[in-house]
Amino acid sequence: MENMKDLENKALAEIAAATDLKTLDEIRVSIMGKKGALTEAMKTLGSLAPDVRIETAKTLNSVKANVENALSQRKAFLENEALNARLKDETIDVTLPIRPETQGRIHPVSKIYEEVVAIFGEFGFEVAEGPDIEDQFHNFNALNMPLDHPARQMQDTFYISHNKDKPFDMDDAYVVRTHTSGIQIRTMETQKPPIRIIAPGRTYRSDMDATHTPMFHQVEGLVIDKTTTLAHLKGCLYDFVKAFFELDEIPVRYRPSYFPFTEPSAEMDIGCLKTKTELKIGAGNDWLEILGCGMVHPNVLKAGGIDPDVYQGFAFGVGLDRLAMLKYGIPDLRTFFESDVRWLKNYGFAPLDFSSLTGGLSNNGGQTR
Ligand code: PHE
Repeated sequence: MENMKDLENKALAEIAAATDLKTLDEIRVSIMGKKGALTEAMKTLGSLAPDVRIETAKTLNSVKANVENALSQRKAFLENEALNARLKDETIDVTLPIRPETQGRIHPVSKIYEEVVAIFGEFGFEVAEGPDIEDQFHNFNALNMPLDHPARQMQDTFYISHNKDKPFDMDDAYVVRTHTSGIQIRTMETQKPPIRIIAPGRTYRSDMDATHTPMFHQVEGLVIDKTTTLAHLKGCLYDFVKAFFELDEIPVRYRPSYFPFTEPSAEMDIGCLKTKTELKIGAGNDWLEILGCGMVHPNVLKAGGIDPDVYQGFAFGVGLDRLAMLKYGIPDLRTFFESDVRWLKNYGFAPLDFSSLTGGLSNNGGQTR
């Protein structure tokens, strides 16, 4: 059986030298395949004398076991190597900065939206949503603006007929929402307090000049709990404007105002310096209005199914487009919606430069300006 030992040694050497899975399989076939050397040797066993047969079978079995073992070890090794090579080959470094030649740009409104969500997300707020086409209950009535309420005239509403078989009836029509405040009601209808949400969305009013467009964007904020106070509102919005304008200090003031759905109501101003050529936020003797806010009116809580004797809260509404104009120095709102690629190239942001409080909100480094 000397030649069997030779066969084994030769096979083991070949297996050890195989550098790819295909070669390894060819070796396997040449030894253990139907016509392989070992298979052929096994076939001769029957013709041997019994005592020789036992010895030969033992040797053959040991050769077989050794070769099989070597084959499977080498196979595992080669498979592992192939996998590692593939992993190395197909690696994408996701930390690389976006390539400067990338054509697409993030619209400033989308960018501001991401920034606002990043800030309030850090404060523990969740994002809520509502429909663009809204019924009057959610847009007006439930917000303490019944049909005959004069405040309905404060906003130039677009009404939409929703029953083509009936003559247009303004009292029964739908509206394209004039503000995101309807989402306050939708949230109260579906969530139990404590509530802490922001709700971004498109809003619509019949208005058009350098600072107004018929479609614009707002973010609504709503906090409801048993002990939520005006102090919480002030602290929350102060922290928001500091984070948003990326300033350590920023003068703020609240002016009394009127919204039917909050009592008391206020408008928040931030300190700034206005010159002929420049607007500097956070310094100087001028003030800029940036949002409306107040304590949620008890009638609104009631309409949302929340007991105003147990719960109270605050709400605010910010114009996203206005924030974008202020933060990124864009003079005319109408240009936001002209879909001019040159404008977007100038004012837009590099994709994949995500906003976060820790990583930087505006990432001006990634901008192409
Ligand atoms: N909905 C108001 C607006 O569109 C803003 C606002 C929201 C005011 C919430 C107070 C509270 O002007």
